[in-house]
Amino acid sequence: MYGKPEYWNERYRVSGSYDWLQTYSSLRNLLSLESLMGTSKLKPLSPFPSHEKCRVLILGCGNSSFAFDMLKDGWKGHITNVDFSSTVIQQMKQKYVGYSDFLDFRCVDITKGLPFADKTFDLIICKATFDCVLTSAASISSIKKVVEESSRVLKNGHGILFLVSHGNPDSRVVFLERDSDLSYYWGEVNIHTVARRSASSTKNDYVYVCRKRLDDIPPLKSPHQAFSCKTNGSDTHKPDTSLKSSNTRVG
Ligand SMILES: C[S@@+](CC[C@H](N)C(=O)[O-])C[C@H]1O[C@@H](n2cnc3c(N)ncnc32)[C@H](O)[C@@H]1O
Repeated sequence: MYGKPEYWNERYRVSGSYDWLQTYSSLRNLLSLESLMGTSKLKPLSPFPSHEKCRVLILGCGNSSFAFDMLKDGWKGHITNVDFSSTVIQQMKQKYVGYSDFLDFRCVDITKGLPFADKTFDLIICKATFDCVLTSAASISSIKKVVEESSRVLKNGHGILFLVSHGNPDSRVVFLERDSDLSYYWGEVNIHTVARRSASSTKNDYVYVCRKRLDDIPPLKSPHQAFSCKTNGSDTHKPDTSLKSSNTRVG
């Protein structure tokens, strides 16, 4: 049901504001320049832009205040928000009508491709939306399309997919790969564990910070290629390294 726009249109019939999993303030540290650049030995071709210049795409924005909270915190480079619920897009357009220089809202089904030119964005945020797409009927092909398209519209050298999910690395990293190869799209993947916001929950959410490869040429499948996948945080869970052959570095 979470994979269908009809479900979300009905859910958004009454307007409001709700943030799934995490809020901007709970993720703010992970969105700092220092954190986004990671600790990789791989040097970006171009430095990550300042928040004032960063072009951001939010996939499945819903009625969350995430984009507006970013804007209030200085992310003025432009934040494009997409969602396949026409109801919520209409509401968000009206709500933020005075901020159109900085925020725009478009009705897009992200499993059908992203209507943006190659290398448009510095940062893509996908919070709880990946999890929804995984519940859709054609979930595997849909999620592959979302990852492929995200990589395409990210800038080379520093572009980052910032994926926030309730799914642990064993259940999510495999979808970031192509042909069982995590380095096909990504030069570096850092995984952070963040405590679930609800006071009654002992569960964690996971933030996958995926930095796009430096070049457009898909890697040769070599057991020695440079690749970094690092897990941070207190979680004892380790990604299944067998999924990623020897392209994986787990911290
Ligand atoms: C769980 S909510 C998360 C909303 C928001 N990102 C947040 O964290 O609060 C998932 C959102 O993704 C949207 N969505 C689900 N599948 C989508 C798709 N294929 N294309 C575009 N949006 C989608 C839904 O309409 C919903 O607004």
